[in-house]
Amino acid sequence: AVPAQQTRQQLQQTQQTTQQSQQTYSLDLDVSDYAVDTMQYEGKHIVFRAYENKVYVAHPVDTTYQSMNIYVPEEYFEGKSVHGYTAQTAPIFLPNTVGGYMPGKAGQPSEYDQRQGGPNAILAALARGCVVAAPGARGRTNQAADGTYTGKAPALLVDMKAAIRYLRHNKGVLPGDTEKIISNGTSAGGALSALIGATGNSKEYEPYLKAMGAAEERDDIFASSDYCPITDLEHADMAYEWVFGDVTDYHQNNAIGAMPAFLQAGGQTIPMGPGPVVASPGSTDSNNQNMLVLDRPADAPAEEQKGTEMSDQQKAVSAVLRKAFPAYVNRLHLTAPDGTALTLDKNGEGTFKEYIKKLYMKSAQTALDSGTDLSGMDWLTIHNGVVTDMDLGKYAVYATRLKAAPAFDSLDLSAGENSEFGSATINARHFTPWGKKYNTAGKAYQADSKLIHLLNPLYFIGKRDVTTAPHWRIRHGSKDRDTSLVVPAILALCLQQTGHDVDFAVPWGRGHAGDYDLDELFAWIDTICG
Ligand code: DHB
Repeated sequence: AVPAQQTRQQLQQTQQTTQQSQQTYSLDLDVSDYAVDTMQYEGKHIVFRAYENKVYVAHPVDTTYQSMNIYVPEEYFEGKSVHGYTAQTAPIFLPNTVGGYMPGKAGQPSEYDQRQGGPNAILAALARGCVVAAPGARGRTNQAADGTYTGKAPALLVDMKAAIRYLRHNKGVLPGDTEKIISNGTSAGGALSALIGATGNSKEYEPYLKAMGAAEERDDIFASSDYCPITDLEHADMAYEWVFGDVTDYHQNNAIGAMPAFLQAGGQTIPMGPGPVVASPGSTDSNNQNMLVLDRPADAPAEEQKGTEMSDQQKAVSAVLRKAFPAYVNRLHLTAPDGTALTLDKNGEGTFKEYIKKLYMKSAQTALDSGTDLSGMDWLTIHNGVVTDMDLGKYAVYATRLKAAPAFDSLDLSAGENSEFGSATINARHFTPWGKKYNTAGKAYQADSKLIHLLNPLYFIGKRDVTTAPHWRIRHGSKDRDTSLVVPAILALCLQQTGHDVDFAVPWGRGHAGDYDLDELFAWIDTICG
């Protein structure tokens, strides 16, 4: 047993993680193996126990990622309550750190998270009496020693499911209510959070879970919080062109979707030779038209200020995709909360479009009501303080286009999503008929439809023998164009019309980001857990 007074750092040094382990890991949490730590949050000392680097499957292929950190407010071991919760009732907050479909390590609390500009969600959760279970998950770039890929789809999801099963397997040995597990993630991590919420207990993932030696437990959760989920990947290209199809220049600057190497190295170093210059935050150098935009999640595609014109072929594919979108929407038989059937005609006009416009208009109205000056927004019509209309085409010009067409199933197989749909031996594959048909990469590898299915939450919502989470919170910023608003909107509609509780909103002025409204997120958690 490890003495409790050991620091977290000392403990981490003694817990050597081996990558490709032949060993069988116990699924029983050793509750004596923890450290105590204290952090400051809004002027309070938050004291918690840290159980870190716990491998959550019996047969891991990568213990660096298939392990989790669990944090518990110390008060629960003294019989006290925190923020109205007790050791028995405390929700279990389950954040993932996945971005760009890259591997994500188990999360840790932080007093100052650079992107948040303050405490991160894990520390905020502890301060509000949540137990935090922060699993790592494999991603699209993980490789074994022999070079085979070990983290392609659906690895990220089955890893999270295994972590949830581990929590249930160890139910009662630690504080926290395993019937109140609340998942949280952003972007690819938001898509992952939606998948966890949608696919609970589905038998379709069973072979993967068995092979990993996951605990034989349920893997459904209570609630799913999803910031800008990059999901419904095989339809997201059509949705993107329906909104951005009239904009012909894009701002993404690197192909495969990860940060450029010189930024990954941790620096704000100016690269040698030709290449984009890094904008210092707040820079107003208008002569430099080619600066990288820095306020983006670490593993999101990099972006530069200067646009690049799409090729003729990309423009041609854009038109094809845009034309195909109405049939997709109509096939979903969507209904607005007020009962209106949401459809599009062959020109892309109709009640669905009006519904999407209203989401932006509501966002703008909220901003207006709180005193934001919207006079520069030429895509909005405002009369006497009321937002009465918007122009979706002008919106696309205002927001600009991040990605060339197709936005996700890239013709040259260079998108992060192509890589996510790779296999053990093929790095990147197509996942739509268009990607394959208009392929420019030479080899037009295609993922099989079963795999594509396993990575789309929409197929599982409300399905028999699946336990979809009853509570959802979905956010997509008004300036986010990593995917079109249509994608989270359809997710929210599918959930609503199958009887799930959905809190969906478009925060004004937000781009591609998450965890920016932690007070509201945890207020929502209190409401659904109350
Ligand atoms: C992310 C962003 C993207 O634009 C994308 O296509 C996939 C993932 C991200 O930030 O996680």
